[in-house]
Amino acid sequence: MTRHLIDIADFSAAEVTAILDLAEVPLADLPRPLTGQGVALIFEKPSARTRHSMEMAVVQLGGHPVFTRGEEVGFDTREPVEDVARIMEGFHALIAARVYDHSTITRLAAVATVPVVNMLSDHSHPLQAFADALTMRQHLGDLAGQTVAYVGDYNNVARSLAEISARLGMHIRLACPLGFEADDAEIDRILLLGAASVEQGNRPIEMVVGAHAVHTDTWVSMGEEEDKEAKRQKFDGFTVDDAMMDAAGPASIFMHCLPAYRGFEVTASVIDGPRSVVFQQGHNRMHAARGALAFLMGVET
Ligand code: CP
Ligand code: NVA
Repeated sequence: MTRHLIDIADFSAAEVTAILDLAEVPLADLPRPLTGQGVALIFEKPSARTRHSMEMAVVQLGGHPVFTRGEEVGFDTREPVEDVARIMEGFHALIAARVYDHSTITRLAAVATVPVVNMLSDHSHPLQAFADALTMRQHLGDLAGQTVAYVGDYNNVARSLAEISARLGMHIRLACPLGFEADDAEIDRILLLGAASVEQGNRPIEMVVGAHAVHTDTWVSMGEEEDKEAKRQKFDGFTVDDAMMDAAGPASIFMHCLPAYRGFEVTASVIDGPRSVVFQQGHNRMHAARGALAFLMGVET
């Protein structure tokens, strides 16, 4: 059966670990499972990290990436999503897409005979989560029993981070503004994925105490631009600043999927300071993507 990368939850703890291990295999020791093959990279939204990391991961695995903007493909405007899948699978070994509506990914996967990769939807961002976990593992070692705190709204990045942190047996703290939290069913779901614990609260300075990693994201995701001013008011007090990092503890690392908006979700002193690992995290997008694509192509550690 074709394996897709739609959500982290679709992967067992052992499979998540296998992908992280593959991400760290030196290029010289890695097979080239994409040799002579193409990979479709379709973007309905802007991207710096995801496009570049995926293009380079494909090249490193011996393949040829074909970047296409969403409007050129025209999911459900130029032709049905399913027809795009049926055409692309004739050219490519993998189909990857960044989409507004998560159902575009699940519809591609429902008909494609090659793996479909979610490069971010309104629901989740699994490739980011692999890079997040890789970065935490590089700094903190075995993540089981360690604590990750996420400050901000429970969005696509938060969901995938929670899923991978759960799979790796971490304690998860969610510091979300009122009205932007995970609901009870979601918290139960994350617990069932293997989290050591999941706690949620509206006071970030309390939620981060003792966290080994503090993670945040932009307050305004792509596609939500009209909510910008309202969200900025509601997120007052959720800026990750030096006081919050001090509350987390002296060894805590700061993480952000980027792009970052200094002065909103994080102060310049934190993101540009000594505890920030955001650029390593960003560079890990390429290693994590390579590990994930290698896994989907059947490479074993
Ligand atoms: N973090 C992330 O996905 O960045 P881009 O939107 O630049 O790809
Ligand atoms: N939550 C953000 C992440 C960007 C990488 C968004 O969806 O725009």
